[in-house]
This record gives sequence, structure tokens and C-alpha cells, in this order.
Amino acid sequence: MVHTTPDPDFQGVVARLLRVQPEDLAFAPLTGGVSSDIWRVDYAGRTVCAKRALPRLRVKALWEAPVRRNAEEVRWLTIARTCIGEQAGHVIAHDPDAGVALLEWYPPEQWRNWKEALLAGNVDARVAAALGEALGSLNTLAARTPAMATEFANHELFDALRVDPFFRHIAHRYARMPDVVEHLVTARETLVHGDFSPKNVLVDRDGAIRILDAETATFGAAAFDPGYLTAHLLLKHARVWEGAQVSDHALASQQALAAAVLNFWQHFRDRLGRIPEKTMPADGRVIDIILAMVLARIDGKSPVDYLTSAQQDRLRDQASALLASPIAVTVEQFLERWLDNRI
Ligand SMILES: Nc1ncnc2c1ncn2[C@@H]1O[C@H](COP(=O)(O)OP(=O)(O)O)[C@@H](O)[C@H]1O
Ligand SMILES: [Mg+2]
Repeated sequence: MVHTTPDPDFQGVVARLLRVQPEDLAFAPLTGGVSSDIWRVDYAGRTVCAKRALPRLRVKALWEAPVRRNAEEVRWLTIARTCIGEQAGHVIAHDPDAGVALLEWYPPEQWRNWKEALLAGNVDARVAAALGEALGSLNTLAARTPAMATEFANHELFDALRVDPFFRHIAHRYARMPDVVEHLVTARETLVHGDFSPKNVLVDRDGAIRILDAETATFGAAAFDPGYLTAHLLLKHARVWEGAQVSDHALASQQALAAAVLNFWQHFRDRLGRIPEKTMPADGRVIDIILAMVLARIDGKSPVDYLTSAQQDRLRDQASALLASPIAVTVEQFLERWLDNRI
């Protein structure tokens, strides 16, 4: 439950980080996150965003995770900023022991959550392209920074927040899901954001992006972030499958979403393809993650909130069959067929 003022300890941490008195701060809760308390904090004519990791996530199932993930998010955002500049959320100050970070405030008048924009049918292909470029740049940096492998040895966190609730939880139900789990827990390939989804991206009218919420950052499977984002976009694309009465607006935004998915993938692939290091995830791995994620968002601990049960049934059948019997295609071919409804 979100309270309208945070507890005094938290207020004290924020006041100390901002070097003001707690009574000088005005707090307003933000909604949208399940793993953290997020507040807008106003003081002396300025605004910041205060984020504190919760020990227990706000979802129906019991789901606990260490609060040190707040400090991991700060480290990811700080490194990402050296690579993709202001496209990564800006950390103003943080207290790793308290699990609290203060971020630059992105005002809702200017910045919109990309998930909300997509669900409203506003699909900006520039955002998808920028995300592909950004992820490709980050993976390029990771390929050239071997120390990252030890700096982000966060496999326990990644296991608690991603592998377990999303994939291991449903592994017994789907053929080859155990292989996906095995790959995710053993691969040490690149710096993974870990929650690279539309809800963790803010966008403005010019197509600029701010990437947030890197609590699950780890040095892990290169297929994870691109597969994860792609699955989120395909799930939104699936909203228009059912029902005879589909508005022109819904159809147009579905087409735009199809273009955006391909745009993301092409920009990611082309950005990584420009470097000599071999860092591209194998196509089959990315496809596995896409399919496993589609299933996880239907049957895992953090289920999708915008698909009908008929749409979910259809996706489950399609994704589980494809996961069980992989087809030898590139990611691009896979996406083209999926989006055209040819698989
Ligand atoms: N710095 C910020 N400025 C404005 N809004 C923000 C900021 N950080 C987060 N938000 C909003 O709050 C939501 C939850 O934040 P997020 O960091 O994703 O937390 P959680 O880990 O709980 O998902 C985001 O989806 C975004 O809409
Ligand atoms: Mg989030």
C-alpha cells in the first residue's frame, strides 16, 4: 500500500542527501512501480525523484528481493550515462545502505511513460530505434570493459527477480523452458539491464528517451534485454488479434508497433554489428527469450494486465509450440512471420 507520506527514516535519508531539514520537503507518491516506493519530492523550488527498494514486491504472489538492488541500479545508471549520455536516468545522490536513490525529476508534462503511450496507441518508431541503438552501445561498452563481469556479478539478484519468478516458476509446464533457465543462470556475456521494458522508459514528443529502473542489472545473457523488450512489444501487438470490431486507430497503431519491433531489432543488430568483438547474441537464444517471456507474462508471477483471456490462450499455444520445436530462422525472419501471423 502506498502512503501519502513516507516513514520518518526515509524522509531523514532524503533530507540528508539533499542537505535540508525533513520539514522542508514535500512528498507525493508516484504509482507505476511494483518493486519500489517512488516519490516526487519538492523542496526550495526544486523537484527530485526519490526511489527506495522494497524488501517485498507489490504483486499478488510472495516475491522478496534484497534492497541492495537499489545500489546496483545506481551503478548501472552511472555507467550507462558515460555511454549513452542523458538517455540514462540521472542519479543526483544515493545512500546504498538505506537503499535510497535520488534521481533527476522528469516532469509528466514533458515525459510520458512509454508503456502508457503504447497502450494509448501512440507508437513512436524513433523511440524503438533509439532503444536499439542505446542497447547496442551499452553492449559494445561491456564488450570492451572486462571488469564489468566482476562489477556486476549480480546473478543472485537476477535469479531472485527474473529467473525464478518469470521462468523457473513455470519451467515444469513448458518444453525447453528448463534450457532457457539454464542459459540465463550460466551465461556471462554482457551487461544486462534486466528490466528493459516499455514501462521503464520515459519518452518525450521529440522521440527522446530516458531509461530507468536498472535494479536487476547483471553481467549475464546477451539475448536477455533484446528478447525481453521484444516480447513486451509483441504482447502489446497481440491486443488487436481478437474481436471483429477493431477501430482504424487500433489497426494503425498495431501496424506502427510491428514497424517499431523491427526497428528496435535492426538498430540493435546494426549497432553491435559495427564492432569487431563478437557480441551479438545467437538468433536462437533471442527467439527463446522472446517466447519464454511471452509465456512468463501470461503464466508467471508478474502477469500482463492488458490482454483478454482469449488473447492469452492463443499466445500461450503459439509460444509454447514454437519454444518446444524451434525453427531455424533469424530474429528478423521470426519477427516478420510472427507479426504477419504466419507462424
Ligand atoms: N526520475 C523520474 N522522474 C519521473 N518519473 C519517474 C522517475 N523515475 C520513475 N518514474 C516513474 O515511476 C515509475 C516507477 O519507477 P521505477 O524506477 O520503474 O520503479 P519500479 O522499480 O518500482 O518499477 C516509472 O515507470 C516512471 O513512470
Ligand atoms: Mg519500473
